[in-house]
Amino acid sequence: MNTIRPPGSEQEYVSNHRVPHLNFSHLGICVRDMEVMEDFYTRVLGMTVTDRGSALDTDLVFLSRDPAEHHQIVLGTGRPERIPENTSNPMFGAIINQISFRIASLNGLKEFDRHLTQSHTGEFIYANHGTAWSIYFHDPEGNMLEAFVDSEWYIKQPVFEPLDLSQTNKEILQKTRSLCEDAGEGFEPVAQWRQRIEILMELQRI
Ligand SMILES: [Fe+2]
Repeated sequence: MNTIRPPGSEQEYVSNHRVPHLNFSHLGICVRDMEVMEDFYTRVLGMTVTDRGSALDTDLVFLSRDPAEHHQIVLGTGRPERIPENTSNPMFGAIINQISFRIASLNGLKEFDRHLTQSHTGEFIYANHGTAWSIYFHDPEGNMLEAFVDSEWYIKQPVFEPLDLSQTNKEILQKTRSLCEDAGEGFEPVAQWRQRIEILMELQRI
């Protein structure tokens, strides 16, 4: 038996076996209007329908943008007509807090922003997390989505500062660097943070 104490926790974590390795792969969302949701995920997010069909009284549409994954998102019928609002902040849906898509560069995020605002309506929220730059938006049934780019830095989360994508990349980088230096608890290069968290994750599996 091994005993470890996660950082900031009074509680000891006791384990007598290793949890086998698991890789997160995909997520299923229950939908009300399959046609509208399929149209959004293919047209606005560029996903490909890899399969469709019915099982267990549910119509299913499998979607992916990665040939290594048969599906990254599955849409399944059966969402109830009315779901109450999130009681903390209605911008988050009642159940799914966020589904997030990584973009490789700031130029890529700016290009996606132009595509998104031309192909979709609704509220767009721009955020600088220090660790990442994000656009938040909603799918047609109110699930919150995020398109983001990783920065090179880690600061303790959550951080939610405004982001102005009309600025040059240099301006955004400079602003983010000073945000991290000035207010960022735990500020360090993300490569260094990844090394530390890798050790912690390994310890927690012992
Ligand atoms: Fe996020």
